[in-house]
Amino acid sequence: MTTTTAPAYRNLLVEQRGAVTVLSVNRPDKLNALNRETLGEVEDCARRFAADPARGALIVTGAGEKSFVSGADIAELAVLGPREAEEVSRCGQRVCDALERAGKPVIAAVNGYAFGGGCELALACHVRLASENAVLGLPEVSLGIMPGYGGTQRLPRLVGPGRALEIILSGRRVKADEAERIGLVNRVVPREQLLEEAVKLAETILKNGPLAVSAVLEAVTRGMQLPLDDGLRLESGLFGLLAASEDMHEGLKAFLEKRTADFRRR
Ligand code: COA
Repeated sequence: MTTTTAPAYRNLLVEQRGAVTVLSVNRPDKLNALNRETLGEVEDCARRFAADPARGALIVTGAGEKSFVSGADIAELAVLGPREAEEVSRCGQRVCDALERAGKPVIAAVNGYAFGGGCELALACHVRLASENAVLGLPEVSLGIMPGYGGTQRLPRLVGPGRALEIILSGRRVKADEAERIGLVNRVVPREQLLEEAVKLAETILKNGPLAVSAVLEAVTRGMQLPLDDGLRLESGLFGLLAASEDMHEGLKAFLEKRTADFRRR
């Protein structure tokens, strides 16, 4: 694995494995809590990832053995007034949106505590893999606040409103096995294999037509916000758009000629 040199982040490690970028939130002394500076760096990293054609997939994880991201930085939240609190919420939502709308696959490798903003960061990723020691939750109500980085919106869309409300209203912790059972994470793997599994999944996705992958991400993430009829129109529009690509013709031709497709992202 090579570590990229620029830009230098104070709270993130960014490593490149071929076309796969691995972003590790790196504040181990605070269990990778998201202070404002870290949020800004995650947003910057997400936007650079989206804009760089050499980067095909992003994995989001936490540095250290114990924590993915332990939440928003409570020390910063403690001093906020109403206007600033709303701004912090909008900022966290913007960062999550930047991941969700990157147009390329973003995979969360949840390697420990994923509470509050950490859980919300994982919810904004397209796929979530978790280690056996992962524990997720939205404990904000226990602090007298509420989820503010998209948790009240994305969790019910993922696990259904009944389960989401029970988790958010109780503030309880959801261990990896339950998270997998209710669809909060896609799959649980042994801790030492988590990153490898995430990279393997990213590489599997990257073998597919990149324009088709982007179209699917748009159809699903945007479609989830639309009534079914509009979502179906969106799907047809993107299906038609792909037919204008060289990649679609290459993919179908390669199948008929019994060879591997050579996708060129055009
Ligand atoms: N914000 C700021 N600091 C945090 C933090 C957060 N979300 N989560 C952990 N930390 C800090 C702790 O204050 C502690 O700092 P200190 O050593 O300077 O006192 C350090 O990280 C280690 O945490 P600690 O609580 O000692 O570790 P633990 O293993 O006993 O417990 C947790 C781990 C995750 C269960 C516990 O830290 C916790 O409940 N954190 C808050 C989770 C949360 O409510 N998140 C939502 C915020 S909106």
